[in-house]
Amino acid sequence: MAREVRAGLSRNPRAISPKYFYDAIGSDLFDAICELPDYYVTRSERALLEEHADSIVGLAGARALVEIGSGMARKTSLLTKALCDRNASPIYIPFDIAPEAIDASARALLDLHPRLRVRGVVGDFGRDFGRLAVHAPPADGTRLFAFLGSTIGNLDEEAAPALLRSVADIMVPADRFLLGIDLVKNSRILNAAYNDSQGVTAAFNKNVLRVLSRELDGEIDEAAFEHLAFYNEPLQRIEMHLVSTRAQPLTLRAADVRIDLGGGERILTEISRKFTRASAERTLIGGGMELLEWIPDAQGMFALCVAKKA
Ligand code: SAH
Ligand code: AVI
Repeated sequence: MAREVRAGLSRNPRAISPKYFYDAIGSDLFDAICELPDYYVTRSERALLEEHADSIVGLAGARALVEIGSGMARKTSLLTKALCDRNASPIYIPFDIAPEAIDASARALLDLHPRLRVRGVVGDFGRDFGRLAVHAPPADGTRLFAFLGSTIGNLDEEAAPALLRSVADIMVPADRFLLGIDLVKNSRILNAAYNDSQGVTAAFNKNVLRVLSRELDGEIDEAAFEHLAFYNEPLQRIEMHLVSTRAQPLTLRAADVRIDLGGGERILTEISRKFTRASAERTLIGGGMELLEWIPDAQGMFALCVAKKA
């Protein structure tokens, strides 16, 4: 973490990886975002899963569900219900960087489905796929790998196919991959989703400063930063930044970071890319996958993709 944060903050423009949002407080804040009227993402994906989860799991013939970036797994019960209806000994393997989220979601799903076996894997999907290969082996039966919430959009043009390739590398031909993607749409809807009127997204963004201070022995004045999020139309992505409201030092002793931020200087904390069918398919192909089914909603807000290893 120290090395990565130092590299990101030394870059021009300065950046912090969004994976550091998700401590226990950050995971709860994201959970609250999912309930916001402005944040259509979760609602849209849930509606698609309500309609299609059963046939996706059925057609995949899956016995095990492996969920990447599972978080609080609020939509997962739609998939695990289908898994439990169809299998005598169903398995769920959540993989996330946030242990608190895995723990809470596993308990909730076990309450719902007493027959489900849950094997949580804590790790960084940018680097710890080896752990999934060990804890979600082909011997578990046919697997449905799921990457929901459009978290793929938080990865850039290189990292997104690289992640898909790590998934494809551990898939066998019978396994299936379910990807949730947020679609390019009217910029007013997009800007509202990342600038909610209750300020929850701003709190989520600023929470990363608290995470860095705590983990890397820092002194950061959270009050001297503002939330900035906007849709960058040419790049088809939301950009989320923290803006330093005045000239100030930023010190993280455990990462050997001592920088001077200028007034108005931005730190990029997240990109959230929005896709078309063509750009989603390109990303899948770049990740060694072949698109089998494209399932958009009628409003053109969100889509599910079912793919297999190419
Ligand atoms: N899938 C859920 C949660 C999405 S939030 C949904 O659709 O609502 C993004 C999730 O990805 C968080 O739970 C976060 O902890 C996890 N995450 C972010 N970066 C990660 C990384 N590098 N490795 C593993 N998990 C990561
Ligand atoms: C997890 N990820 C897909 C969310 C998104 O929409 O990019 C994170 C988020 N950031 C601000 N609001 C939600």
